[in-house]
Amino acid sequence: MKISIILGTRPEIIKLSPIIRILEKTSEDWHIIHTNQHYSENMDKIFFKELNLPNPKYNLNIGSGTHGEQTGKMLIKIEKVLLKEKPDVVIVQGDTNTVLAGALVASKLKIDIAHVEAGLRSFDRTMPEEINRVLTDHLSSYLFAPTEIAKNNLLREGIDKEKIFVVGNTIVDATLQNLKIAEKNIDVKDFLNGIDNNYFLLTLHRAENVDNKNRLKEIIDALFEMIEIYKKPIIFPIHPRTKNRLKEFNLFERLKSNKNIEIIEPVGYLEFLMLEKNAELILTDSGGVQEEACILKVPCITLRDNTERPETVEVGANILVGSDKNKLIEAVEIMLKRDKNWINPYGDGKSGERIVKILIERMTN
Ligand code: UD1
Ligand code: UDP
Repeated sequence: MKISIILGTRPEIIKLSPIIRILEKTSEDWHIIHTNQHYSENMDKIFFKELNLPNPKYNLNIGSGTHGEQTGKMLIKIEKVLLKEKPDVVIVQGDTNTVLAGALVASKLKIDIAHVEAGLRSFDRTMPEEINRVLTDHLSSYLFAPTEIAKNNLLREGIDKEKIFVVGNTIVDATLQNLKIAEKNIDVKDFLNGIDNNYFLLTLHRAENVDNKNRLKEIIDALFEMIEIYKKPIIFPIHPRTKNRLKEFNLFERLKSNKNIEIIEPVGYLEFLMLEKNAELILTDSGGVQEEACILKVPCITLRDNTERPETVEVGANILVGSDKNKLIEAVEIMLKRDKNWINPYGDGKSGERIVKILIERMTN
């Protein structure tokens, strides 16, 4: 069996790493095709290095652009590679433009698609990620759903149950595999000017939050009010999209002027795991970070109006506040007091193994 793994962004590299680890131990013929949707050292190469991943066989150098431009370039270049490689199956993970492009090309070339993290739904079609997820799920032959909730979303859309496998989320594998290494090698004090654990951690990058000036300003105001009350340092590894938008909207200096906000460049996975583990509270609009907070037993506040990770809210690890000041203040109060004995809904850390086993069994029979 020949497998092409198509990836392009930070979370895809992290969440596919457990599958790559397992494939390395098999005799299957596989390779990585990297669209380079993410390309900055600290959004891309750092993860290959830290996670000890083999270099991609193909780097497509697509980079940034509008949705049409970026996806269009990906379609052209991925098609060329798949026509040459003729894989039996293409593996994609998640909901980025890379995922949609990989799935579209593969489907037209009649190559089977395995979608890792299938069935997530925010039910918000204004999000580019929701469009990418829905379309990719409907093109896939193997839908690896992390939970029963995800499986039910797929069944409700009429997807054949024979194609759906509930396997947990590979983020648990990645977190557990790397936490031990991180704990041995990383001391957060080294890059936090002596701050040890008495801090909140913030990430922000969703288009619906950072591309809208009013919404972004509202979030900053809410954060400032929260800081007034709690007087905690907020560590903010800033996504390049967010940095660009803040500068464009003349909000960067305002954010930086708050002494309690420590803006740092995006960090590697080991560093970020330790930042999460030591945080008192995590504020985020990231998908992967909501999951990791839940796995690491750190309370999470999600700066969005909806989430495609409702499991985290159901178990009590996460709360949705959107951009509302009062809701945010109230949520901090609630989450700081919350018992952290919730159950991780995303599985036992063996999702990668399950996915590879199912693929080998089904594809070779
Ligand atoms: C993309 C995904 C999003 C995912 C996120 C993970 C889509 C539609 N969005 O969003 O679902 O949650 O990745 O982080 O696929 N940039 C850099 N260096 C990089 C990459 C990006 O400077 O290595 C800057 C560029 O200015 C670029 C902007 O960030 O225009 C946005 O990058 P892009 O890949 O289009 O979207 P993300 O916001 O990263
Ligand atoms: N992450 C990281 N360094 C950072 C910020 C995040 O390694 O500075 C990791 C984080 O641990 C998680 C993933 O990046 O596994 C989440 O990526 P992102 O928030 O960009 O995308 P999303 O999950 O929302 O698609």
